[in-house]
Amino acid sequence: MNFYELATKRKSTRVFKDKEVAPELLDEIKAYFPECKRLVPEIMIEFKIIDPKLSPMMNGCVGYKDFLIEAPHYILILSEKADSYVENVGFAGEDLVLKLTDMDIDTCWITINDSAKLKDRLNINSDKEPVALIAFGYEKSVLSIKRLDIVNLSNVIMKKRSGYEAPKLYIEDAIYAEDMGIKDENSTLDHYTDLYQALVAACCAPSFLNLQPYRFIIDDGLFILVSLADERTSENDQLLNLGILMLNFYRVLSQRSGVYGTWHIGKPDKELELPEGGTIVGYFKI
Ligand SMILES: Cc1cc2nc3c(=O)[nH]c(=O)nc-3n(C[C@H](O)[C@H](O)[C@H](O)COP(=O)(O)O)c2cc1C
Repeated sequence: MNFYELATKRKSTRVFKDKEVAPELLDEIKAYFPECKRLVPEIMIEFKIIDPKLSPMMNGCVGYKDFLIEAPHYILILSEKADSYVENVGFAGEDLVLKLTDMDIDTCWITINDSAKLKDRLNINSDKEPVALIAFGYEKSVLSIKRLDIVNLSNVIMKKRSGYEAPKLYIEDAIYAEDMGIKDENSTLDHYTDLYQALVAACCAPSFLNLQPYRFIIDDGLFILVSLADERTSENDQLLNLGILMLNFYRVLSQRSGVYGTWHIGKPDKELELPEGGTIVGYFKI
């Protein structure tokens, strides 16, 4: 899998064909569950493909404005509660999304508005909590429509885009501060093409309502992720956003550089000026 290509090619699909994924492909997906990369490998998580007979029961507790996108299949990810468990689910779930993208299967993350109700509706008897839901199947092409454009929760409209990527944060805007001690006129990114590609992948990550409430600081060999306060995004969705982004960054940087680093959760041992309302999530040695 070429993770840079997959991360930049992936887009959310909301109109699915009434066509199921073939059983042998479902088996391949299930076999990938334990392979999905984790942020905190010790945390027990569980992937569940929802029985299609039960999926309409999810209406009213998941999706923007409680509206469930109709899809032939859904994967629910459950987790035990522990530090960073939601980010861990975002990380593992996005790894699965990239695997599905590689299999030419389309996906959409779906917000969970009421996890207790969802558990009840799906009759799930588990001590783990439902943390994330991903719809998958095959996109139904509707004329020349390429992507959904989201204005707000109740105004999700279709719009043809000229480019192939969603309107995402530009790298220059995503980076709040950059100082690698490089003294000439070029920026850090001109020196580190692997880092640049990892940043593009991070900026292409899916996020709740495409709001992307995060910024990056590059400081003295560290890539630091800063979460921004956003009143429209729930805590669960923001933590998923962050895990998803961390996976994209990790996968692309590791594959391109051949150096398999890890995310460290928490603040690095240094004073940093943060954007307003920002908190440090973690950092990655680059
Ligand atoms: C945590 C999370 C929850 C999301 N929930 C929904 C949802 O309930 N309904 C929906 O249509 N899209 C949902 N999305 C998809 C985003 O709207 C989509 O990722 C964003 O608009 C960016 O578009 P793209 O994925 O095509 O790059 C969600 C995405 C994330 C990361």
